[in-house]
Amino acid sequence: MSLKILDTFPDFTQESTQGPLNFYDWAGDSWVVLFSHPKDFTPVCTTELGAVAKLKPEFDKRNVKAIGLSVDAVAQHLAWAGDIERTQGAALNFPLIADVDRRVATLLDLIHPNASDTNTVRSVFVVDPAKRVRLTLTYPASTGRNFDELLRTIDSLQLTDAHKVATPADWHQGDDVIILPSLGADEAKALFPAGWTEHTPYLRTVPQPEAAD
Ligand code: BEZ
Repeated sequence: MSLKILDTFPDFTQESTQGPLNFYDWAGDSWVVLFSHPKDFTPVCTTELGAVAKLKPEFDKRNVKAIGLSVDAVAQHLAWAGDIERTQGAALNFPLIADVDRRVATLLDLIHPNASDTNTVRSVFVVDPAKRVRLTLTYPASTGRNFDELLRTIDSLQLTDAHKVATPADWHQGDDVIILPSLGADEAKALFPAGWTEHTPYLRTVPQPEAAD
């Protein structure tokens, strides 16, 4: 299944480092960052899992749960966790799916045969509390992902949901944001009574509203 933006993310049950895990039950009302990696005991993946573990306080602030996935077995994941803690200075604090039979990898289209017939690619899905896909990305195996960029994207998505604003190129917390072009003038006036800067009729900016809860 090739998942697209706003598709419903499929439910599954699979083994994990925290025991058998049903995705919908585990996710509950949280946002989810589900990320796959090619293989345990590989260098880039080791740094990535350490980076995600270190970001837990930032994920928690945003009501986000992280979960990793590869086709390695639970015993491999648990053995590798020691290396991650020792070399990256952060212990695994999120579950790792052990997709040995590749059931989830097949469901999510994570085996790209030209890259590898057996290993998952380096993909990410951001899933909202309604279980809708809000972001997908796939990186080359040799390039570690930028997890700060994922947090930035989640901040943007949560602002959009709460305040009907979009975020411009290279936006960071505190920068001005853009009123959604789908908002007519009357609705925009109701939501932004202090007004906005109209650069063009479709590019209307306002100071960033308070972060979403
Ligand atoms: C790595 O995690 O270092 C890696 C995995 C697969 C291919 C290349 C690098």
